[in-house]
Amino acid sequence: IDTAHIRNFSIIAHIDHGKSTLADRLIQLCGAVSDREMVDQILDSMDIERERGITIKANTVRLDYTAKNGEKYVLNLIDTPGHVDFAYEVSRSLAACEGSLLVVDASQGVEAQTLANVYQAINNNHEIVPVLNKVDLPAADADRVRQQIEDVIGIDASDAIPISAKTGVGVPDVLEAIVHRLPAPKGDRSKPLKALLVDSWYDPYLGVVVLVRIIDGVMKKGQKVRLVSTNAVYQLERVGVSRPKKETVDELGPGEIGFFTASIKQVADTRVGDTIVDEKNMDVVPLPGFRPAQSVVFAGFFPVDAARFEELREAMGKLRLNDASFTYDMETSAALGFGFRCGFLGLLHLEIVRERIEREFNVDIITTAPSVIYKVNLRDGSHLDLHNPADLPDQTLIESIEEPWIEATILVPDDYLGSVLKLCEDRRGRQKQLTYAGSRAMVVYDLPLNEVVFDFYDRLKSVSRGYASFDYKMIGYEEGDLVRLGILVNAEPVDALAMIVHRARAEQRGRVMCEKLKELIPRHMFQIPIQAAIGGKIVARETLSALRKDVTSKCYGGDISRKKKLLDKQKEGKKKMRQFGKVEIPQEAFISALKMD
Ligand code: GTP
Repeated sequence: IDTAHIRNFSIIAHIDHGKSTLADRLIQLCGAVSDREMVDQILDSMDIERERGITIKANTVRLDYTAKNGEKYVLNLIDTPGHVDFAYEVSRSLAACEGSLLVVDASQGVEAQTLANVYQAINNNHEIVPVLNKVDLPAADADRVRQQIEDVIGIDASDAIPISAKTGVGVPDVLEAIVHRLPAPKGDRSKPLKALLVDSWYDPYLGVVVLVRIIDGVMKKGQKVRLVSTNAVYQLERVGVSRPKKETVDELGPGEIGFFTASIKQVADTRVGDTIVDEKNMDVVPLPGFRPAQSVVFAGFFPVDAARFEELREAMGKLRLNDASFTYDMETSAALGFGFRCGFLGLLHLEIVRERIEREFNVDIITTAPSVIYKVNLRDGSHLDLHNPADLPDQTLIESIEEPWIEATILVPDDYLGSVLKLCEDRRGRQKQLTYAGSRAMVVYDLPLNEVVFDFYDRLKSVSRGYASFDYKMIGYEEGDLVRLGILVNAEPVDALAMIVHRARAEQRGRVMCEKLKELIPRHMFQIPIQAAIGGKIVARETLSALRKDVTSKCYGGDISRKKKLLDKQKEGKKKMRQFGKVEIPQEAFISALKMD
């Protein structure tokens, strides 16, 4: 295909502004799928994506479009995720195209992720076509939002296209704009092969499928290629495009986006952002922008039923096949038994993995409180990267602890600004900027990530009644007065409940945890102190009073079978109990105590 007739674009938007719905309409208008095959949100393939209405994996589709001028074009649409956890997937998708449709909900306006994503597109030298969606809604105000795009983002929005992705109004104009306003890709067919590895995933039938954007040269079946970062060589078995059904093609030329398979064993063997060249081509300048996805949030996963550990291990292995950004190592805990320490891109990523294990593999799990990576500097001059509070060395050996900080951008209607500022201040935030665009405020705060992984996002949503939007990026490490807050039940430490917190916040966190546990642990025949401690110092305490009567006493004189039933039930319950010294703590208590709320 002649590059002049190719257009590669992505759609960027804040979550829920209608990106997937617009993609569906474009696919339909270009006749890529028949009406009968049309399922809503065709690009969101995973069940969880569909249910939660969020896009996780970048997906792509090739469309054939005949423009009003009679010329035929090939349009490649790369879908991008909207959530902050997956910002990295956005950046690589953007690197594969020349332009973006910026979708803004005309009833909502510009949000935090609109900003974050559009700046990434600008950094990738994208031509940007603003699209004002949901004009069918009574609350839509296209003129106001057009002005807001100019004020807040600083790009020309006079040609913004008003549409309703739902009803289809205005969508044909979007197709014309893609052809006439976005640039064609450049590339030289006669040069040696150079391609960008955009994404890869595991397909149960095809094995690892690699999505590529050809920069120069051609890619054909049978060709031997080399992945520059690992030097691994593969012979291409199948080269194709997604329409969105997989279709084999003879070759992919410059400017084209497509996939190949090559007996690659696991997704982890392919690095997103890598450069692909001919096997023999040894002196190649790799494409810029290769940055591996990094885990920033960690948590322990333990099977609720210890006997199902092997099943959990298998589930983790299978998930990892398809998600190289999720990592895990085995871990043991006195409280929870055998399990895994897992690393995630963010909290949503954690939630998704947890849900998939429970749903797709049917293993119920207990998740420990999420943690970030701390840099611990020891007195003997050595350093430690720590993400499990249980591994923190004794306080006397520690010189200092550094924690990761983020820069958060929050957009919020005026009315809720006060509560949002208070929340940020409570979380040790440092305000950097406060500006207005109409009745919306934009605040920029530096915040310790450890305060954000806890429950920041939920709190933000609740104090702003869902109106605040939030985005963040990592800015680096800073020393902090951090301590390990341990929980003791009847003077026995419970490792799974330990956490690393700032000294100033320790007492409050400790108190909340003790109060919760007091509700969750059943009474015993003796009194049980529940304490939170920093080192040897108790900072909070609750006491669970003793139970007077035996549990069977209420059946005194009653019939024996009922008594037996009660004892059996108690025995059944015991299986799910964990013993701490003389105290039995039900599994349920851990689940509830560790819930982030
Ligand atoms: P993520 O994939 O999670 O980033 O969301 P998205 O931007 O893809 O949003 P999606 O397309 O899932 O749309 C979000 C919601 O808005 C859905 O309930 C859509 O039905 C609705 N929606 C999308 N476009 C329109 C529109 O033009 N008008 C109206 N009234 N609703 C729309």
